Amino acid sequence: MTSPSAEIDYNPFDFAIQHNPFPTYERLREEQPVHHNERFGFWALSRYDDVMAASLDTDSFISSKGVTLEGAELGLPLLILKDPPEHEWHRRVVSRVFTPRRVAGLEPFMRAAAAELLDPHREAGGFDVIEDFSIQLPLRVISELLGIPETHRQEVHHLADRLVIRDGDTGAISADAQQAAAELGALLHGLVVERRASPGDDVISMMIAADVTDGARSWKLTDHELAYRFMELAFAGHETVSRLVGTGVVALAWYPAARRELVADPSSIPGAVEEMLRWDPPSHFQGRWSTRETTWHGVTIPADQRVVLVTGAATHDPRHFPDPEVFDIHRSIERPLTFGFGVHLCLGAALARLEARVAFEELLSRFPDFELDEAGIVRIRTGNVRGLAHLPITY
Ligand code: HEM
Repeated sequence: MTSPSAEIDYNPFDFAIQHNPFPTYERLREEQPVHHNERFGFWALSRYDDVMAASLDTDSFISSKGVTLEGAELGLPLLILKDPPEHEWHRRVVSRVFTPRRVAGLEPFMRAAAAELLDPHREAGGFDVIEDFSIQLPLRVISELLGIPETHRQEVHHLADRLVIRDGDTGAISADAQQAAAELGALLHGLVVERRASPGDDVISMMIAADVTDGARSWKLTDHELAYRFMELAFAGHETVSRLVGTGVVALAWYPAARRELVADPSSIPGAVEEMLRWDPPSHFQGRWSTRETTWHGVTIPADQRVVLVTGAATHDPRHFPDPEVFDIHRSIERPLTFGFGVHLCLGAALARLEARVAFEELLSRFPDFELDEAGIVRIRTGNVRGLAHLPITY
């Protein structure tokens, strides 16, 4: 095991690394599983077992001091930024509205929305998977779930898209991204005020009425807290799923035998979705801060340091996944890490899996022979959300 050094240039904001991070990840895992990045001031854990262990150890690794490198989320009342025990009090409120029954009940809506988005392209000979489909579908679903009116949906999407853009060298948050975050906060705050005045049968109204409780006392969320809880859900609920579908389309173009199998037998799609999640996760790292010294492979991470859990590297750790670079829809995936693990395990995982299954069922039944229009592929340039902004296909 080598000692930490600056030799491996792991700059998560570097476009070249975003384009193909896997060679860098391999070096991190094999040469410096405890990497100290002096330029950005963080430590990185990249092996599967280490990312899993740190995700589970919420005493040593906390979220309240930030979960990204750029820190745009700091100071906002987000669930993801809370540590136990407060985290549990707040998570219960959101979990109550994300019941398996409510999620499963969305399937007919999703399927109808997918058909409505895809059918107009049947005769067109091609379309942009991201812009025309994979952004629109989860946006409609999360808006339906939360009760965001149709008139506001595109605006929510455009604001969410703007707020993730980061400078490619330093990761700096542009004035435009800050402005977009403020506008999205204001838009959602407006909806909360509206629903408080005339409640409906939607998640926003349910969460306005819900009590947060620590067991001894209970209280209600403020309008400000509610607006940001919805921003978190609206953002997490569509940015990630849209990237997953895009990555999956690329995977199926590169692995035609897998695609043929899914076209012939759509019951294999859920397994393929698990492999898409592993092969190129929409969220490549989760940020934490250390509260105390911990030692890994002989290297000590001091207290009060920023630590990055590199999910994208962990899901390619050959110690856990043989031939990790190969996209294999029959791989058995135990304890996946793409949705995080432990107390912050993604609240939308069941919804995301369902959306991806429906998306591929509907896409492959209409366009089984699609081809990528590689010249038009564009990657998004953000911090830890990874995926494509444009993915034209032809058929
Ligand atoms: C493929 C799609 C998705 C991926 C890859 C993903 C990934 C993740 C990951 C890695 C975490 C843990 C972050 C951490 O440990 O710091 C997380 C948390 C979370 N996700 Fe997702 N997510 C997806 C879809 C969704 C959807 C559809 C929703 C909501 C509708 C959602 C809502 C959340 C929320 C609220 C949290 C915070 C949970 C907590 O802190 O207790 N996600 N997600």
